[in-house]
Amino acid sequence: MELVRVTEAAALSSARWMGKGLKEEADDAATTAMREVFDTIPMKGVVVIGEGEMDEAPMLYIGEKVGNGYGSRLDVAVDPLEGTSIVATGTWGALAVLAVADAGDLLHAPDMYMDKIAVGPEAAGLISLDNSIEENIAIVAKAKNKNVEDVVVTILHRDRHEEMIQRVRATGARIKLIPDGDVAAAINTAFPKTGVDLLLGSGGAPEGVIAAVAMKCLGGDFQGRLLPEDEAQEKRCQDMGIADTGRILLLDDLVKGEDCIFAATGVTDGELLRGVQFTGQGGQTHSVVMRAKSGTVRFVEGIHSLKKKPKMVMKP
Ligand code: FBP
Repeated sequence: MELVRVTEAAALSSARWMGKGLKEEADDAATTAMREVFDTIPMKGVVVIGEGEMDEAPMLYIGEKVGNGYGSRLDVAVDPLEGTSIVATGTWGALAVLAVADAGDLLHAPDMYMDKIAVGPEAAGLISLDNSIEENIAIVAKAKNKNVEDVVVTILHRDRHEEMIQRVRATGARIKLIPDGDVAAAINTAFPKTGVDLLLGSGGAPEGVIAAVAMKCLGGDFQGRLLPEDEAQEKRCQDMGIADTGRILLLDDLVKGEDCIFAATGVTDGELLRGVQFTGQGGQTHSVVMRAKSGTVRFVEGIHSLKKKPKMVMKP
């Protein structure tokens, strides 16, 4: 529950930058706020997925210690602002997110693309990245007792996905093309009210691990396959202990063990979480926090007094 304060702070700070066309500034605001609140949380955390390597990111860099130094040793994955361009343009589905697991349990995913598939609990264990697109859609339709035409597939709107989009269209399934934000898109597949059934396509590998934590908590499924684009990226995978980069990374490869926690706060409005709203008095946040071991999923609405905690939001 404490961890949700960390994503709330990141969301409140970055939401101030909505629509200003300044994605770096929005990201910096989220990162700074997240970093500050982390140290109030009782844990011995180490960032394994973060804002970059130590020499390229001033905070929340890989290897940085977070937490107040008491409590369990944890791997920490953060994306203080998942969807920087979304906030810059004030569009749909930006989140402040973090995931934690016991030390050593999170895949230290290198910064490269990953082919991804995510589904909710009904189709968990049935889909595979080794299946064709058409097969996976048929599996999801059957598992959810729907016609293929009723299935909604979310895909990042990228040129690299053009063939995939054509093939999904040919099945008759419906498509939601998103400009950014495939963590939210993965999570949405586990909540019927969002109206989406399946995430397909490639996106950031670090985001893939964070989404996998959420899917483990939700009893859904997520698979990834790293897509190194040159020798340097191939070497990074080897250095991180991923010998066969072509193999499918299952949920348990991405997040080992029984327990992990995921927290997210909406920055801009999305299908699952509303974005931050500011009133004259303060800010209102909508978050979800969930734990794999207990299976509990909590939605948390926060009303924050910016008079009492003026530093909660860093002004643009
Ligand atoms: P940022 O928050 O870093 O802007 O990433 C947003 C995102 O859309 C992710 O959700 C996704 O995994 C990745 O970028 C896709 O990368 P690309 O824009 O290069 O296709």
